[in-house]
Amino acid sequence: MTHRIKSFEDYQTLYDRSVADPEGFWAEQASTFQWRKTWDRVLDWNFEGPDVKWFVGGKLNITENCLDRHLETRGDQVAILWEPNDPTESPISYTYRELYHAVCRMANVLKSRGIQKGDRVCLYMPMVPELAIAVLACARVGAIHSVVFAGFSSKALADRINDATCKMVICSDGNFRGSKVIPVKDIVDEALKTCPTIETNLVLKRTGQEVAWHADQDVWLHEAYQGVSDECPAEEMDAEDMLFILYTSGSTGKPKGVVHTCGGYMVYTEFSFKNVFQYDEGDVYWCTADIGWITGHSYIVYGPLLAGATTMMFEGVPTYPDAGRFWQICEKHKVNQFYTAPTAIRALEAKGLEYVKPYDLGSLKVLGSVGEPINEEAWHWYDDNIGAKGLPIVDTWWQTETGGIMISPLAGITPLKPCHATLPLPGIQPVIVDAEGNEVEGNDVEGLLCVKFPWPSMLRTTYGDHERCKNVYFSAFPGKYFTGDGVRRDEVGNYRIIGRVDDVINVSGHRIGTAEVENAIDEHPNVVESAVVGYPHDIKGQGIYAYIICQQHPSDMETLRAEILSIVTKVIGPIAKPDKIQLVNGLPKTRSGKIMRRILRKIADGTSDKLGDTSTLLDPSVVDEIRDGVLI
Ligand code: WT7
Repeated sequence: MTHRIKSFEDYQTLYDRSVADPEGFWAEQASTFQWRKTWDRVLDWNFEGPDVKWFVGGKLNITENCLDRHLETRGDQVAILWEPNDPTESPISYTYRELYHAVCRMANVLKSRGIQKGDRVCLYMPMVPELAIAVLACARVGAIHSVVFAGFSSKALADRINDATCKMVICSDGNFRGSKVIPVKDIVDEALKTCPTIETNLVLKRTGQEVAWHADQDVWLHEAYQGVSDECPAEEMDAEDMLFILYTSGSTGKPKGVVHTCGGYMVYTEFSFKNVFQYDEGDVYWCTADIGWITGHSYIVYGPLLAGATTMMFEGVPTYPDAGRFWQICEKHKVNQFYTAPTAIRALEAKGLEYVKPYDLGSLKVLGSVGEPINEEAWHWYDDNIGAKGLPIVDTWWQTETGGIMISPLAGITPLKPCHATLPLPGIQPVIVDAEGNEVEGNDVEGLLCVKFPWPSMLRTTYGDHERCKNVYFSAFPGKYFTGDGVRRDEVGNYRIIGRVDDVINVSGHRIGTAEVENAIDEHPNVVESAVVGYPHDIKGQGIYAYIICQQHPSDMETLRAEILSIVTKVIGPIAKPDKIQLVNGLPKTRSGKIMRRILRKIADGTSDKLGDTSTLLDPSVVDEIRDGVLI
C-alpha cells in the first residue's frame, strides 16, 4: 500500500520530497501495486505536445489491483455496499470475492459479444452494483469505458457514443430515481437510431417495465450470463493504454472526451483516496456522487477498491422519500466517511433540521465536499449539524481532467479553514499566474490556477482530437496546465478556489458549457440568437440565465418558455434547463461582434450598476434596454 500520511510534519516532509524528487517519490508509491512488468522509466514529459507518460513500459491490469490482490487478505470483506432508491428494498453487498467473480462473469459476457482490448463500451446505467461491475469488467478485458450520466438526453448520449465510435452500450430497462421511473432503454433506443457502430445493447433488468425489443442487437444481461464462467484472466495493459474516456463540457463547442490511462490513474486515485479521507481498515466510506461523473469513477469505484475499502453506492436522491434520506443511510450503515456536494448540503439545509435530528450520526469521522466552491453558510451548517462541530471537512478541489483530488485538506491532519481547499497533495505543484502568464509568487495573492509539473492521473488527451487538448489546457500559459479556475492564496498559503474564469457554468456541481446551451436554444425556430450566462443561485450554486432574440415577437410567452425548456431537455438533458429566460432585442456586442458576457453576467446577478467600461460596445443603448427588461 502507498504511503499513509499520519501527521502534518509527515505531510510536509513528503510534499517537499515529492517536489524535490518526483520520480523517486512516485516510483515508491507505484511499487506497492501489482505490476505484471515494472516500468523502465518513471516519467517522460513535455507540456508542449502535450506528451505525458508515467511508468513508461510498465504492464498491469488495474482490476488485478482492485480485486485479485485483495482476495487472500480480505476476500470476505464487503467491497461494495449498495443502498437502493426505495428504503423498503433490501441493501445488497458484494464481498471482494463476490465482486471478483461478478466482474469476471461480466468480462466473459463482454468477450463473448466480441469486445476486445481497445474497443469502446458506453455505459448508460442507474447507480446499481452492475454499473461498477461493468466499469471493472471493461477494464479487465482492456476495453475503454465511456460512462454517460443517465440524466443526459438521447441526443447527448448518441453524440458521445458516436464521438468514441463505441461498439457496445450497456443500459437498464429503467431507473428508479426518487418517486420517478426513468425509461432508460427507450432513451437508448432513440439514441441508437443514429449510432451505426453499436453492435450490442446489453440490458440489465432493474425495474421490470415493458421495453421495446430489437432482437438484432438487444441482449438481456441475465440471459447473457447463462453458462458463463466466473473466472476471467485479466488482459495485460501498458501503463499508458487508455483506461477510460469521460465527456465533460468546455467553454466552446461540443463536450470533449477526457482520456485517462491505466498506470498513473491507478497510483494516484489510491494514494489520494487513502490520504484525503484517512480511511482506516473496516471503515464504511460513502461518496454520494454518480458514477457518471469523475467523482464516482475515482472515489466510488477505483480509489476505494484499490485501497481495499468498503465503498457504498446509493441508487436514489437526497430528498426521497424525504430530506432525511442521507442521514438515515449514514445511521443505518454506520458510515464513517461521507463525501457529497455543496448543492446537496444547501438543498438539505433549506428543508430544515427536523430531517437531521432523528438520526444518530455518531459513526461519522470525516466529511467531504466536492464539485464547486462551498459557501460559508453551507460549510458552517455542515460543520454544526452533520459534523457536530469538530469533524474534519475536506473541501476537495479537482477536475475531470485531473483524475484525482489535487488541493484538499487531509482529514484530521491539515489545519482547516472554512471554504478553503487549503494545500496541494504531495506531487501536485500548483502555481498562480496573472493574465499575462507571469507567475504570481508569495502569499495573499489572487490569479489564475495552473499546475506546472505533471502528476500521474492527469488527462493525456481529448479523445480523437489531441489539438483540442493542447489548445484548451496547455496553450494559454505555455509550459503549464491551465485549470480554468480563479484562485486566491491566503497569508499562510491556503488555496481558496473562486470559480471558473471561462464560459463554463457550474450548476449543482455539474459542468455546463454556455455554448452548448446556446446551441440547443438556437434550435427553436423563432430564436435568432441567444446568450447564456451563469448567475448566483441559492441552492444550485449557479443558475442558468438565457437572453434570447426572437425573429417574430412571440404571441405567448408561456408557450415559448416551455418550448425552450423542452428543446434544452431534448438536446442536453434536464440539468441544462435555463432557470431564467429574458427576451431582448439586441445583445451587447463589441465592434468585432463578440458578445460581452461580462455585462450580461452583471445584469443577471443584479449588479448592473457596476458595469464598468462599456465604451467598446457597438450600441451601448442595448444595455439599458436589457437592464430594464423582464423575464418571460
Ligand atoms: C470544476 C471541475 C472534480 C469533481 C467534480 C467536478 C469546480 C470542483 C471544487 C472545490 C471549488 C470546485 C472547479 C473545477 N470545483 N471542486 N472543492 N471548490 N470549486 O468535476 O465537472 O470536472 O468540474 O468544478 O471550478 O474546475 P468537473
